Amino acid sequence: MSKDAAKIKYPLPLQLKQTINMIKEFESAKEILSEIESTQPTTAAELEAFRIKYLGSKNIIKPLFAQMGKIEPAERKNYGLLLNELKTTAEEKFKQIQDSLNSDKSREKKTTPDLTAPPGTLEKGARHPVDIVMNRVISIFQKIGFTLSDDREIEDDWHNFTAMNTPEDHPARDMQDTYYLKDLEGMLLRTHTSSVQARVMTQTQPPIRIIAPGRVYRNETISARSHCQFHQVEGLYIDTDVSFADLKQTLLHYAREMYGPDARIRLRPSYFPFTEPSAEVDVYWGLESETDYRITKGTGWLEIMGCGMVDPQVLENCGIDPKKYSGFAFGMGIERQALLQYRIEDIRWLFENDVRFLRQFHSAI
Ligand code: DAH
Repeated sequence: MSKDAAKIKYPLPLQLKQTINMIKEFESAKEILSEIESTQPTTAAELEAFRIKYLGSKNIIKPLFAQMGKIEPAERKNYGLLLNELKTTAEEKFKQIQDSLNSDKSREKKTTPDLTAPPGTLEKGARHPVDIVMNRVISIFQKIGFTLSDDREIEDDWHNFTAMNTPEDHPARDMQDTYYLKDLEGMLLRTHTSSVQARVMTQTQPPIRIIAPGRVYRNETISARSHCQFHQVEGLYIDTDVSFADLKQTLLHYAREMYGPDARIRLRPSYFPFTEPSAEVDVYWGLESETDYRITKGTGWLEIMGCGMVDPQVLENCGIDPKKYSGFAFGMGIERQALLQYRIEDIRWLFENDVRFLRQFHSAI
């Protein structure tokens, strides 16, 4: 438009002259506006130049204000609005670039390493108490020839119950509250690691000497004493002429390795569908402190596992000849032993993953 204006020959009628002037002022204000918008200072020096040009005491917007009187009164308001927009655009841009340069500077400060600083310490992770106890159990049994068997947590009804002599209508099913899987007919979360016994026996012929550590699930109300998930280590030994004396001696060996050379155990008659006879094993914990009284309910003895001679029916269910072979089995809870060893009062601590709790096991192996 200014080009068109330049073509016009003077002298011009006053009114037209004013209009051209007016257009000229509007145009230069608009040019400055787009200049401000497209300028992008990236250094402190460029930003300072920007400030001087658009916001300094001799900035280029100022003279435009002086033209106000020349603008036709009807357009004066629009002109004023345009100049104000110029000013605020320049101010906002300045502020925004200044902020971003400042934050760059502080970031730079943070990431520049101090080469003279002494090396920081690396925080070592700690083993989880359940892991520590489980690994100790595994290593005790591995040393006497048991091998590791790992198997699934999502099990079928047959391996978890039926093979283990607990058919559907068997009252012993009520001993374990089971999570059945809604969309998988006949499948469940294993309620005990005894399911691995069935897995191993259906795949291998004796001699069998395995331990099976792992997680198990039961639909129990979560409290300080019980949880809906916990860990067990299962043991299974099948060969010719395996006797109850072998079982007892193996468990005594375990207790001495785990709780010290003076550890004592006792076996109380019990019932499990998959063993006959069955027993529960207590370890002598002592009655020296009040905590001992509380933990052992005043008896000094603490139950740590179930065990027994594998029921001949279980061997038969799994394709092993009970006339030729016999065996023993045991299943122990890990959480309970971890609570004991570390004097942890609430089982829920073991599942919360609170680092303040976990850090305390740094020195444990
Ligand atoms: N499976 C049993 C439970 O979870 C524990 C158990 C008892 C396992 C006796 C065994 C056994 O192998 O022989 O309560």
